[in-house]
Amino acid sequence: MLKRTVDCGSLRLKDSGREVVLAGWVHSYRDHGNLVFVDLRDREGLTQLVFNPETYPEAHKLARDLRCEWVVAAAGVVGPRGEGLENPKLATGQIEVVVSKLEILNVAKTPPFEIDNAEKTNEEIRLTNRYVDLRRPVMQKRLQMRHRVTKIVRDFFDTSGFWEIETPMLGKSTPEGARDFLVPSRLVPNSFYALPQSPQLFKQILMVSGVDKYFQIVRCFRDEDPRADRQAEFTQIDVEMSFVDSDDVISLHEKLIAKIWKDILGIELTLPIRRMTYKESMKDYGIDRPDLRFDMKLKDISEIAKDSSFKVFSSVVANGGIVKGLCAPGGAKYSRSDIEKTLTGFVGDYGAKGLAWFKAKEENGKITLASSIAKFFDEQQLDKIVETFGAKDGDLLLFVADKEKIANKALAPLRCRLAEELGLYDKESFGFVWVVDFPLFDWNEDEKRYDSLHHPFTAPIAEDLEKLKTDPANIISQAYDLVVNGSEVGGGSIRIHDPRVQEQVFELLNISKEQARLQFGFFLDALEYGAPPHGGLAFGLDRMIMLLAGTDNIRDVIAFPKTQKGQCLLTNAPSEVDAKQLEELNLRTQKHLHQLEKNADK
Ligand code: AMO
Ligand code: AMP
Repeated sequence: MLKRTVDCGSLRLKDSGREVVLAGWVHSYRDHGNLVFVDLRDREGLTQLVFNPETYPEAHKLARDLRCEWVVAAAGVVGPRGEGLENPKLATGQIEVVVSKLEILNVAKTPPFEIDNAEKTNEEIRLTNRYVDLRRPVMQKRLQMRHRVTKIVRDFFDTSGFWEIETPMLGKSTPEGARDFLVPSRLVPNSFYALPQSPQLFKQILMVSGVDKYFQIVRCFRDEDPRADRQAEFTQIDVEMSFVDSDDVISLHEKLIAKIWKDILGIELTLPIRRMTYKESMKDYGIDRPDLRFDMKLKDISEIAKDSSFKVFSSVVANGGIVKGLCAPGGAKYSRSDIEKTLTGFVGDYGAKGLAWFKAKEENGKITLASSIAKFFDEQQLDKIVETFGAKDGDLLLFVADKEKIANKALAPLRCRLAEELGLYDKESFGFVWVVDFPLFDWNEDEKRYDSLHHPFTAPIAEDLEKLKTDPANIISQAYDLVVNGSEVGGGSIRIHDPRVQEQVFELLNISKEQARLQFGFFLDALEYGAPPHGGLAFGLDRMIMLLAGTDNIRDVIAFPKTQKGQCLLTNAPSEVDAKQLEELNLRTQKHLHQLEKNADK
């Protein structure tokens, strides 16, 4: 068997005359009757092979049988391509290998899609045949990038004195707020493990154990509906440190981010990364993960709107709501039907009852606002609106009148959609921000209780500890999120290390003493045995790679991802199991029970 001496991406003009052996997959095949050309592919690139019937008739004869994706090894001599036949797009485009000996290592069925046309292929077909899909150069690049990032992460934490420690996969339910994946226990009947939603409690216990600096690249499991940036099974870069404050955690992690962006993309980030309070983010962007690649801040015009004769606006403000909106540069090119059907429908999906609009026009050196509802505003009010936004000729102003929560919920995605459609930002750019000073709690109106905005182990700022008794709604937490291009890439906090504060927080979350004991007793006990002050963070590795790779589909950066329905199309998981397996686990499925009932009836 021919033994490979070089990969398909590295030969250059200076290698002319070298005898080499390449191995890989037939990427493309051109039979010119006389000469046969084959592009041979491996993960490093493509190399052109040439088969000449005059010099090497045997190899040429064999080459005529080749088909795409067959696996071959070829021995030959490197030489320059003929005049004008170079391919500047290819790293190896200056050379070709004149093959003297060809070995077919394996044949292949016609692939279900062409590697070069995969982008146009239905994703289900690609996922079902993932081994073919992963052969695509862009996918190989993503796999390699992911490997390089985890290598950088491990080196970075190693040199900073962190230990990578594994925590259990079979564990107890952890409180990240999603549904658990459960695993039945065979040895302890009627009992279940939960797969970790994150190693949160274990990493805190490692701090109580004196580990001081921990990290782990770790799989987490959350039984939520997958989305473009969410998988049920995903990976975190998980970190915890002792004797630190939030500035320590933030500044260490932004150094890591800067290193990754530098080494992977060659982009030099300016540190420190900007910080923004939750309050400012909600006010200006309507969301706690603002996309800062473009400006277009939201503004509250309730003060102007309340006195207008447009009933929709004045009555909403009179009832405690707000009128908030944005000014899209160049947006006047949207037609009335674009606005009243498409954009109004879009905000409607987020609960907005309508979308009021004005087009800004310059007339005699003055900006005026045109709209079917302009007649409900006097000139002064219209001028004030123009002034609030600094509106310019050709801009489109859009407003939602509603409860503040709904206005924000609708306007935040509208802002992003408009920026994209109007081309307001450079797609290659990055907008980084740490969002800080989150409230500790969010009021849950349906269940009439507080929810943690992050998780129940997040510490309040010291000044607000007193408010646990008096004013929980206004407590600021020591949590921080890293947001990049409007995506939450990481989040963490300084933790509660005083068991009494932890108990108070559980109480406010409506977790009874008994429940807390049952669920987190081991953890509350640990806090009683000398817990150091500590804090940490977790980055979503998949989301980070998505940003680095410039894709908005999380499945593109995971070798074997799950579909929207949580299925692995390659292996066909989840699937039914043997009745015998269920019996060993003391379990019955509905189907199983029906079967038993039927048998009993007979
Ligand atoms: P959090 O729940 O914010 O924090 O998760 C941390 C980061 O993980 C990523 N992430 C996800 N990525 C893909 N699919 C998902 N379903 C998914 N869920 C989360 C996000 C997120 O910012 N234990 C805390 C961290 C801490 O406090 O130290 C935690 O898990 O990028
Ligand atoms: P209507 O009075 O329902 O015909 O609405 C007149 C204009 O006001 C339309 O462009 C609606 O989309 C808009 N509109 C209606 N309700 C709201 C609302 N709550 N917020 C913003 N605009 C609204």
